[in-house]
Amino acid sequence: MYIKSLTLKNFRNYETQSLTFDKATNVFQGNNAQGKTNLLEALYLFSMGKSFRTNQDSDLIRFGESYTKAELRFCDRNREHVLEIIILRDKKKQIKINGLTISRLSELVGHLNVVLFYPEELGLVKEGPHIRRRFMDVALSQLRPGYYHTLGRYQRVVDQRNKLIKKIRMSGGNSLSDTMFVWNEKLAELGMTLMQYREEFMQRLGVLAQKAHFEASGETLTLVYKPRFETKEAFLEKLETGFDRELEQGYTLYGPHREDFEIFINDKEAKTFGSQGQQRSAVLSLKLAQADLLFEEYGEYPVLLLDDIMSELDQTRRAYLAGKIPDKQVFITCTELDALLHRGKIFTVSGGKAAMQE
Ligand SMILES: Nc1ncnc2c1ncn2[C@@H]1O[C@H](COP(=O)(O)OP(=O)(O)OP(=O)(O)O)[C@@H](O)[C@H]1O
Ligand SMILES: [Mg+2]
Repeated sequence: MYIKSLTLKNFRNYETQSLTFDKATNVFQGNNAQGKTNLLEALYLFSMGKSFRTNQDSDLIRFGESYTKAELRFCDRNREHVLEIIILRDKKKQIKINGLTISRLSELVGHLNVVLFYPEELGLVKEGPHIRRRFMDVALSQLRPGYYHTLGRYQRVVDQRNKLIKKIRMSGGNSLSDTMFVWNEKLAELGMTLMQYREEFMQRLGVLAQKAHFEASGETLTLVYKPRFETKEAFLEKLETGFDRELEQGYTLYGPHREDFEIFINDKEAKTFGSQGQQRSAVLSLKLAQADLLFEEYGEYPVLLLDDIMSELDQTRRAYLAGKIPDKQVFITCTELDALLHRGKIFTVSGGKAAMQE
């Protein structure tokens, strides 16, 4: 699939901007703080319905303005689609797909698929489990709309259950109430579904990531995911035997919201033993695998959003990447134009304005 055009009104540092894109490579070049990442953020917004940089939609509204509005046109193999997003301060954002307003974000996710790579994502290898969980959640939501839906329900159960744990704690009780049994049942039920999705996903992703990584670097990348529980019974049992600890801590301790996966390069844990560059290319391999998996599933390659990636990779890995992307649509930001990037459309970004270079 590819994005045809983007129109922005009061988005971040853009006042009004209209851009028509190349079907393959699009480069946003400019100095720091000019609005390059803001453009990727706008594109990403149409994929997941939210920013990758903030949970606060109103951050996207240009300083001093009361609303922002963005429109994006993209083509999948069937037809052209128009997506529209309007964000007002302190109001629920409005999203339209082909002119029709949707009522839940889950209706948007899965239409425009993008895979994003940005510098902070080095954390995917280095940082705590929540970043890897978010990676699984975002990638799986695009791949399987059912996952996104189940995840939302699961999170609500965790919230409810946490409230109940706090209530039992406050009242000085220590036994599992009937209501708690009901929540346990729901938690285990939905949790098992999520873990099954993750198991299948990580299996397939692991194969593709290993392939991409080997081609890029000659190293062996291995992803290891083990569901926290094999069966629903085991899950339920832990919720009973571990309840004292939950009461002590005050929240739900067991389930997919606490999971993680491990990343190995040549059989050594990448988190501890990987160099900066190795970690970086491991993240890239994961991202490319995420895109390959979407292709395997839908027969359509997602749009790649690559923020500042060239400065982050060595020559071999850059060349590998450049060789991998020609027939796909990519958006790349950079401060300096790389010889590898002299193709497609190049936009110069300066002070919240993007102009195509002739
Ligand atoms: N809501 C907003 N309204 C107006 N300007 C904003 C808003 N949010 C961010 N900005 C401005 O956008 C600029 C940053 O844009 P962006 O992150 O796209 O920069 P960049 O070109 O990617 O820079 P770098 O090369 O450093 O990554 C900052 O100067 C910031 O002040
Ligand atoms: Mg940037």
